[in-house]
Amino acid sequence: MDLDDLVGDHLERGEPTGWFEPLYAAAIPRSLRVPWARGAPHPAVVDWLDDPPVRLPGSRVAVVGCGLGDDAAHLAVRGFAVTAIDVAPTALRWAARRFRTAPVNWRRGDVLAPDDDLRGAFDLVVEVHTVPWLPGVVRDAAMSGVAGLVAPGGAALVVTELATSAEAGSSLTGPPWPQAPSELATYRAAGLTRLTLEHAEAGAAASIEVRTTWQRPVA
Ligand SMILES: C[S@@+](CC[C@H](N)C(=O)[O-])C[C@H]1O[C@@H](n2cnc3c(N)ncnc32)[C@H](O)[C@@H]1O
Repeated sequence: MDLDDLVGDHLERGEPTGWFEPLYAAAIPRSLRVPWARGAPHPAVVDWLDDPPVRLPGSRVAVVGCGLGDDAAHLAVRGFAVTAIDVAPTALRWAARRFRTAPVNWRRGDVLAPDDDLRGAFDLVVEVHTVPWLPGVVRDAAMSGVAGLVAPGGAALVVTELATSAEAGSSLTGPPWPQAPSELATYRAAGLTRLTLEHAEAGAAASIEVRTTWQRPVA
């Protein structure tokens, strides 16, 4: 299976996120590697939890685009009440099998149109490298969806890939497609305040991983 063909076919059909489920479904029988799978929680999440820059009002956490579940399971083991959301049912079944004993609510959902009961329901929303794998046409909706899950006083932890310049960004082919820094304004437009933006030295790289923390002010 060629990733570019799979993504291209779905984009042409007007299904910008429709390729994730067939990618997971094809990976299992053929033992293919899922391109973003790390087999461990993301170090930027683990490290953030060790020294959070914000005091969370409670322990309800949503992991959006949870994939194979490493971050969700890690948060559950650390005592959070975790709802792990993904559009791909195969990913959720796979994650549930990998982390049988972790008390995670694995839930099918679309961040572009979150279920009503999820809106404003979480003290922490974690998004790791989902938005840069989505085409530009749905990114605003995805980021607004992420922000919309954050309760008043709650936070969002977003780990994403940013282009280091406009020229660098346009030279990169995807997926993933690194975000333009200006795209992050969508979180602000959705009512969040940025608390932190952290990254390693960019050097000459065309894109760089960043960790950002956002908070929804208490009304
Ligand atoms: C690039 S993967 C990242 C997975 C995981 N966060 C990680 O870092 O390993 C993006 C994930 O988001 C899911 N996804 C894509 N579109 C989505 C949507 N509209 N709503 C919820 N999940 C979505 C995909 O199925 C996939 O598991």
